[in-house]
Amino acid sequence: MAMRILSGVQPSGNLHLGNYFGAIQQHIALQELPGSERFYFIADYHALTTVQDAEEMRRNIRNVAIDYLALGLDPGKSTFFRQSDVPEVLELTWLLGVVTGMGFLERAHSYKDKIAKGLKPSLGLFTYPVLMAADILIYKSNLVPVGQDQVQHIEMTQDMAGYFNQTFKSGVFLRPEAKLSSTPKVPGLDGEKMSKSYGNTIDLQMNEKELKKAIMSIKTDSTPVEMPKNPDACNVFALYSLCATDEERDALAARYKAGGMGYGEAKKLLCDKVTAYFAPYRQKRAELLANPGYVDDVLRQGAAKARAIARQTLDEAKRACGLI
Ligand code: ADP
Ligand code: TRP
Repeated sequence: MAMRILSGVQPSGNLHLGNYFGAIQQHIALQELPGSERFYFIADYHALTTVQDAEEMRRNIRNVAIDYLALGLDPGKSTFFRQSDVPEVLELTWLLGVVTGMGFLERAHSYKDKIAKGLKPSLGLFTYPVLMAADILIYKSNLVPVGQDQVQHIEMTQDMAGYFNQTFKSGVFLRPEAKLSSTPKVPGLDGEKMSKSYGNTIDLQMNEKELKKAIMSIKTDSTPVEMPKNPDACNVFALYSLCATDEERDALAARYKAGGMGYGEAKKLLCDKVTAYFAPYRQKRAELLANPGYVDDVLRQGAAKARAIARQTLDEAKRACGLI
């Protein structure tokens, strides 16, 4: 059987460089992996734990769909759909929930982080990892490409698959593995992990002015212009490296080490690099914006394909529990 690759992104705001270099870039690259098939989806049920305004949700879903396609998701190579178009996944969430302990869920970092940031501890937020496990297991996924922050959720999924198989003496669920990109933790403007919820992002959709403003606000140390600088301790350099070729990266590293270049100049180079890197994306995005029917068709067709598989796995799971 073909190796199944699956991942999801929440429609909880604009995509940023962390989402792209941590996750989406490898989603797109994996489209060329021989002997594999791919399922990528918009995790709208997950986003509902934090986005609770209907207009904003609709806007975000469309936005992420267009972004994914503009970044190179090819519906001929990947099944692309909306999580909520496959309601079977919620039924499976329940089946997994009955074999999942409260203490186990209480240990989830992402839940603890969200509560620490002031989010209300709702039932949805608490069971977030169970829904994510259902997403992964219902398509019998082998490989889940994500950024570092999602690895624990995938380890929890492995455990939940095991609990279910053991309890119901079945072999319905496979053990999925996480797959990290070469940059699983992209730093934000302040040096912390780039994240929508920290307000430290460089968004793919920023116009020139917004991009410039964001990049100029990146924290740097106070080494004077003429002094040599350590590229490996500089956030501007880290972000530049993501968009540059190896030669360009080495050339900038040499300039840091030689002294005589200020951070302002490095920031200007970063600005130009990001603008050039994402120029094809902006072009494709403009084309897709003019063609909303196409995006709807892609998602509808993707959902039909995903749903057929989800139905089969759910029936196997229900049989294992004695519900069929
Ligand atoms: P955010 O943290 O901004 O809310 P999401 O949780 O929607 O982003 O993440 C979508 C995908 O992007 C996940 O696979 C996640 O691991 C990845 N990701 C998010 N931020 C980063 C980052 N700073 N570095 C690497 N990967 C990231
Ligand atoms: N929780 C993931 C995130 O915030 C999104 C997600 C939901 C996901 N279901 C998934 C990722 C299944 C991989 C597989 O980024």
